[in-house]
Amino acid sequence: MSGIPHDHYEPKTGFEKWLHERLPVVSLIYDTLMIPTPKNLNWWWIWGIVLAFCLVLQIVTGIVLAMHYTPHVDQAFASIEHIMRDVNGGWAIRYAHMNGASLFFLAVYIHMFRGLFYGSYKAPREITWIIGMLIYLAMMATGFLGYVLPWGQMSFWGATVITGLFGAIPGIGEPIQAWLLGGPAVGNATLNRFFSLHYLLPFVIAGLVIVHIWAFHTTGNNNPTGVEVRRGSKEEAEKDTLPFWPYFVIKDLFALVVVLAAFVAVIWTMPNYFGHPDNYIEANPLVTPAHIVPEWYYLPFYAILRAFTADVWVVQIASFLTGGIITAKFFGVLAMFGSIFVMALVPWLDTSRTRSGVYRPQFKWWFWLLVIDFIVLMWCGAMPAEPPYSTISLIGATYWFAYFLVILPLLGVIEKPKTPPATIEEDFDAHYPPKPAE
Ligand code: HEM
Repeated sequence: MSGIPHDHYEPKTGFEKWLHERLPVVSLIYDTLMIPTPKNLNWWWIWGIVLAFCLVLQIVTGIVLAMHYTPHVDQAFASIEHIMRDVNGGWAIRYAHMNGASLFFLAVYIHMFRGLFYGSYKAPREITWIIGMLIYLAMMATGFLGYVLPWGQMSFWGATVITGLFGAIPGIGEPIQAWLLGGPAVGNATLNRFFSLHYLLPFVIAGLVIVHIWAFHTTGNNNPTGVEVRRGSKEEAEKDTLPFWPYFVIKDLFALVVVLAAFVAVIWTMPNYFGHPDNYIEANPLVTPAHIVPEWYYLPFYAILRAFTADVWVVQIASFLTGGIITAKFFGVLAMFGSIFVMALVPWLDTSRTRSGVYRPQFKWWFWLLVIDFIVLMWCGAMPAEPPYSTISLIGATYWFAYFLVILPLLGVIEKPKTPPATIEEDFDAHYPPKPAE
């Protein structure tokens, strides 16, 4: 597929030509900033910039925190209190990092559901989607590792429960668990390696983000209509697009300021709202908290993990067929990872030829049901693992899988989509009619 035709950087002065022949870095920046962008992008397209901001925020605040933090079981908890009380501005840096993780996940969920609604995952943007899924997995791992570092009760018991999931893998589970922990239980070796990996992973994410951006710059952005930019000539492409600079940079920065106003308000007024009070109690291997709950952004998948108990018939069948190798716990682990895996496969599971959900009358209902399902699962994940929550989780988990594995493949066949506009220009003009010539 050829890219969208547009002006490219032309070195003018002698120095520019000299540099361009050796390292075309100005050309790279110019082409990135001036990339033709569909002019009908709506506000759901601002979250990519918010995500990029979050990544930088987490890296910068994280590096400063690491200057004052001590990754040792005897000092980790106290070193966090030292940051909060003694380090100049330490409380603000710590709260920004702590709530920055929440903003990061809020943004990523909106970004992902945006992609699911507008069919941004469909050809030719499958690689953008898959890289996105890898970023998401790396974010989940980073968040989990980071949560262990303050060495509070939830840090310790969360790490115990989650690493215990690996122990559920038949045969090889226990050695893997011990290898992850660096010993038979969560301890100093665990804290050290978690700190090391928590420092490393954001840079892996940064590398993946560069590939993510490279991929959608190659295909061009999707847009609310799902109709591609015309590529016949530069003049035609210019009717559907505007350069990223200054139009989208200004729009994105405006949106970022609004989001940051809310973010700062949270840090200033309710910085512990998204946390758990038990994490202000130092880790104690001898006292198990009444309810071990992960951070809010893991809750939907935590609910899926716990939904498949030994009395569920699919679990019983799986256990029977495998001669007991698949236990309820292992089934839950498979379901949890499976729920993310089916999302990664969505470019191939959605059989509809119409890209954007705007023109898919039936799809819309199922999509919004998926959003509700996600929120209900999040709520169930925070509740005790007992009826009615376990039953609701099971229904929610079933819908999650049904959406990707049954509904999307079938809808493409049975649904009769509406006709999208012929061009992006047509859609844009319908929203903002051109002024009549004076
Ligand atoms: C650190 C995390 C991420 C960053 C910084 C990031 C950044 C971006 C940016 C800047 C865009 C351009 C359009 C926009 O702003 O929406 C974009 C598009 C896209 N992202 Fe992400 N992203 C991240 C994670 C993800 C994840 C987890 C997924 C889904 C699995 C994803 C899927 C997509 C898709 C499908 C597009 C194409 C939409 C289009 O063509 O306009 N991204 N991303």
